[in-house]
Amino acid sequence: MPKVKITETVLRDGHQSLIATRMKTEEMLPVIEELDNAGYHSLEMWGGATFDSCLRFLNEDPWERLRVIRSKVKNTKLQMLLRGQNILGYKNYSDDVVDEFVRLSIKNGIDIIRIFDALNDLRNIETAIKATKKYGGHAQGTVVYTISPIHNTELYVELAKKVQAMGADSLCIKDMSGILTPYYGYELIKALKENIDIPIQLHTHCTSGMTDMTYLKAIEAGVDAIDTAISPFALGTSQPPTESMVATLKGTEYDTGLELDRLCKIADHFRDIKEKYVKNGILNQNVFNVDTNVLSYQVPGGMLSNLMSQLAQANAMDKYNEVLLEVPRVREDLGFPPLVTPSSQFVGTQAVMNVVAGERYKMIPNEIKDYVKGKYGKPSVPIADDIKKKIIGDEEVITCRPADLLPPQLESIKAEMKEYYEQEEDVMSYGLFPQVAVKFFKDRQAAKYKIDSDMVDKVEKTHPV
Ligand code: CO
Repeated sequence: MPKVKITETVLRDGHQSLIATRMKTEEMLPVIEELDNAGYHSLEMWGGATFDSCLRFLNEDPWERLRVIRSKVKNTKLQMLLRGQNILGYKNYSDDVVDEFVRLSIKNGIDIIRIFDALNDLRNIETAIKATKKYGGHAQGTVVYTISPIHNTELYVELAKKVQAMGADSLCIKDMSGILTPYYGYELIKALKENIDIPIQLHTHCTSGMTDMTYLKAIEAGVDAIDTAISPFALGTSQPPTESMVATLKGTEYDTGLELDRLCKIADHFRDIKEKYVKNGILNQNVFNVDTNVLSYQVPGGMLSNLMSQLAQANAMDKYNEVLLEVPRVREDLGFPPLVTPSSQFVGTQAVMNVVAGERYKMIPNEIKDYVKGKYGKPSVPIADDIKKKIIGDEEVITCRPADLLPPQLESIKAEMKEYYEQEEDVMSYGLFPQVAVKFFKDRQAAKYKIDSDMVDKVEKTHPV
């Protein structure tokens, strides 16, 4: 009987999407055993913005969060999200840093690493996939979903086949803006199932209000796993509610095997946590508005609020609609990049500049120049020569994998941060977020806070690499 597997996102994407990644480890632990015993395929609980948020806002060691949760989760796989060659940061890192980060993630307790590149330039996920395999983890290769005249089923199938050929253990279709429609979702998953053998997982967001229908059609097409969030941290810019999907599928050939009674207890706990974030204002109820602008303009929710604040700063709120129309034009000029971090930011900024300056590409942010020079990877469609000329003049465009130009960085990162070194994981925290990590290290020294070395040993023993 085909069973649909469920990945619970409340510990990562659920709170990243609704409360800006502010959930603390202590707010997770009271139900961690319940989560472990509920029958989930995996718990997504690390990576994405959680690492930065721990160091920057919560004064928590992200590595310790991972170890503490690992020590209590004995039956369920722990999953993380990794941005290919960017790891969890915003620039490309050398291969030795990517390898070391993956090694330590698995050593500290991660089982499944979902690896994606914002441009679907698969050269940017290859090092992380190889490293995950080398250290005994499950490598989930990812294809980012977007809509454009060139993004069709054939292209997605081709990308999926390449991901499988790289040695990925499973494939994720990542629809970060929630724009995959139910019937096209069916067609896409069906085509992928016919062309690849590895399991397929679908990740999407409720932003445009179609997502539970999309999940249902994807399940009918044979998708193996979906991402859901326990109800208090579901809907809006997050995922569909776990309980609703479990109830929908119960008793059918797609039964998830999860028990609603157990999920109720987990939901009770997170309802209290959510209430706290409503009261302190971090949870803005606007995240629950259905946003169909993502369908018309390809502008995901987070990008929309950035655009508004940029326009407010430029005193040009009256240009809002013009900017919305300019976004798809800039995207077309740039070869239809999927709008996800970091491309969503720089496409948005360019659109604002084009409108506010009253002339297109009169002002150009450096990120756009780097993108056109190939420093983020290869766009899906080659950029037209006249646009290229306008943006970078006669400057050279690189065609190799961007990280091929980077010398090894691990040793120099180690040397730079050695006065703060207390564990090998600190090197990675510093390498990814130097300023916030130093602040965290200094607070740690001042508090004479000691890393729980028993915990480190325990995880290593129970979770051999
Ligand atoms: Co997501």
